[in-house]
Amino acid sequence: MLCRVMAEAVAACGAQVAVLDLRLDAAEVVASEIRRQGGKAVAAACNVLEKESIEQARIAIEKALGPVTLLINGAGGNHPKGTTTREQLRPEDLEKTAQEIITFFDLEPQGIEFVFNLNFLGTLLPTQVFAFPMARARRGSIINISSMNAFRPLTRIPAYSAAKAAVSNFTQWLAVHFAPAGIRVNAIAPGFFLTDQNRELLTRPDGGLTPRGEQILAHTPARRFGTPGDLVGTLLWLASERASGFVTGTVIPVDGGFNAFGGV
Ligand SMILES: NC(=O)c1ccc[n+]([C@@H]2O[C@H](COP(=O)([O-])OP(=O)(O)OC[C@H]3O[C@@H](n4cnc5c(N)ncnc54)[C@H](O)[C@@H]3O)[C@@H](O)[C@H]2O)c1
Repeated sequence: MLCRVMAEAVAACGAQVAVLDLRLDAAEVVASEIRRQGGKAVAAACNVLEKESIEQARIAIEKALGPVTLLINGAGGNHPKGTTTREQLRPEDLEKTAQEIITFFDLEPQGIEFVFNLNFLGTLLPTQVFAFPMARARRGSIINISSMNAFRPLTRIPAYSAAKAAVSNFTQWLAVHFAPAGIRVNAIAPGFFLTDQNRELLTRPDGGLTPRGEQILAHTPARRFGTPGDLVGTLLWLASERASGFVTGTVIPVDGGFNAFGGV
């Protein structure tokens, strides 16, 4: 959802866009909407966890649109198997079964691995594939998608928090590593945006807020969730060599003040 709006935003500025997703039909919906609005876009199926699949997508994109100069690494998300039921451990829960309450001790390696792979490896592998020709051409911009979790972990989601911290850390590492090749690497850290990933966590079916949703808004000085369009200004700034040519290795919060607020 967030990446859809980002793809539309760069297309509206005249960029030719390739939309990659695990689900080709989902990517095609976005690409065809961009074409309908007069832009140039292609869709490609791609699993960001399989290098061969990313290579295939790159070859198809270069054939259709030419070399890639901007990479947005947006695939990511959490998994219930990397999530605890409660915010803090209650020692009495240790006597309960994992069916009743999932404590830290019940988290399964597969759940943690899924979240780490999707967010971290799913950023690293596309970067290997798409930054190689950028490095040869001595130009390019990479924008990773981190999260508020990366600055301070959110309760209940240790795997997602740690994986996004890895994305932020990796953004800095890459910025240093790629600087001699003329590639800038930055990240956007969105605050809380209502999307399919978190709708059930933050809102009730009647449209009201869950306790977690209320808690988040209480810690967001702007007192609202973000809308995808809120990311566009930062995205275009980081994408533009003219506007941000000396900016690399940064992680920019777009969060209504969440990260600045100590809660009191
Ligand atoms: N929604 C928020 O509040 C929020 C906050 C901070 C960060 N983010 C991050 O923003 C990014 C976009 O999230 P969103 O909320 O728009 O979620 P989304 O679920 O709408 O988008 C994620 C997309 O990734 C695709 N995907 C999943 N696994 C893939 C794989 N292996 N290969 C290729 N594509 C794959 C999905 O098909 C989906 O289209 C994610 O990295 C997410 O972690 C979201």
